[in-house]
Amino acid sequence: MVLQRTVFFVTYAMALAFACFLCAVDSYDRPPPRKNLFVSPWTMIKILLLQNRGSGFMFYVCVHISMVGQDKMRISWITGSHSPATVDYGTSPGAKGFSATGTTNSYRYLTYKSGEIHDVVIGPLNPNTVYYYRIGSNPGPEFSFKTPPSSFPINFAVVGDLGQTEWTSTTLQHISQSNYDVLILPGDLSYADLNQPLWDSFGRLVEPLASQRPWMVTQGNHEVETIPLLHSKPFTSYNSRWRMPYEESGSGSNLYYSFEVAGVHVVMLGSYTDFAANSAQFKWLQADLGKVDRGKTPWIVVVIHAPWYNSNTAHQGESESIDMKKAMEALLYGARVDVVFAGHVHAYERFTRVYNDKPDKCGPVHITIGDGGNREGLATKYIDPKPEISVFREASFGHGQLQVVNATHALWSWNRNQDDEAVASDSIWLNSLPLILPVNFRRNLFQLI
Ligand SMILES: *[C@@H]1O[C@H](CO)[C@@H](O)[C@H](O)[C@H]1NC(C)=O
Ligand SMILES: [Fe+2]
Repeated sequence: MVLQRTVFFVTYAMALAFACFLCAVDSYDRPPPRKNLFVSPWTMIKILLLQNRGSGFMFYVCVHISMVGQDKMRISWITGSHSPATVDYGTSPGAKGFSATGTTNSYRYLTYKSGEIHDVVIGPLNPNTVYYYRIGSNPGPEFSFKTPPSSFPINFAVVGDLGQTEWTSTTLQHISQSNYDVLILPGDLSYADLNQPLWDSFGRLVEPLASQRPWMVTQGNHEVETIPLLHSKPFTSYNSRWRMPYEESGSGSNLYYSFEVAGVHVVMLGSYTDFAANSAQFKWLQADLGKVDRGKTPWIVVVIHAPWYNSNTAHQGESESIDMKKAMEALLYGARVDVVFAGHVHAYERFTRVYNDKPDKCGPVHITIGDGGNREGLATKYIDPKPEISVFREASFGHGQLQVVNATHALWSWNRNQDDEAVASDSIWLNSLPLILPVNFRRNLFQLI
């Protein structure tokens, strides 16, 4: 079985290599921290008292949605006390017509106890359609979201190292003005840094956006949150609050998964879990990339936290960059991944197509977009002279947009916070690296294996 898989993959890699052979082929002020939006413990107590009086008032926060398979959506939210994991939804205001129930969990972190965290998967849903939904049994305010399209074009918003400062607000404001379908976050979400109520505050901050469009996230170093002797389990809060569709992509861990939307295969990797050549993540990645049908999804996008390519002086020499790249870069290259997004470095940088530290027509474009607006400020120092493979680098807060127009063309742009949303500071057309071999030929080839 293992041997068969290995043979399969080697042959697959060779086919891809063959296909490639054919393929013609300033300085800024450190931002002040944003005032926390959450709710002190005292406020929480008052809310609980109110609820117990039977006022019918249901306290909920942190509503966000994420894609599950091609036509379902997971609705996640938190309540201050016991309430059912139920969502009513429909295509017109009033959210009538359909109902679904899900699961509830909670976690403890030192003396902190989370609210009830609810996850409900709804669907099947139609593509490119607005749905209205209500959560819990006591109808609270109504939310709505739009499902992503099922075919090109599709627009992704990409933003890393978000945090919760005034800069974060500006970034979110710009993202909300863009016409995006799905948000991709390459790690470092709340910067709660062990202070758990800040996770609630982050959930509230992003709720206006994250309740309307799917937010697909992966985790960074700020999500680990272990304390020697006191709390040894990593990612406790992240895994409880930001459940992603890992089972659906055959992954055994919420820390890495993939999903497909409108002709794009997106792989979310975990930089802070095992990535070595014999690790579960590596084997899963190998199998996941092996299953991609470039006829169906001409684009492959990979998302990590610690960048494999980086000419900023920040975060040089970290194992998550060097060793993960060493372990996995050949896999990505073999699968003809189009773009790799990373965060971690609080600045923007775009590389040319690159493999093994050299420009390579068949390698992915690496982009660092860790400039969402967190409280640690910008990484302003760069290695001089600029390496040849680095095309554009700048330390400003902002976000990116990947507009995949069709099977071969996508427009990538980076929008600086100082400019209007409409102004792209860096912009480039990308061409996909689809398998040149016709789909049928490929299918036949694999049947021979
Ligand atoms: C894909 O989009 C690009 C950019 O708009 C366009 O030039 C090209 O003709 C399109 N390709 C097809 C097959 O429509
Ligand atoms: Fe980070």
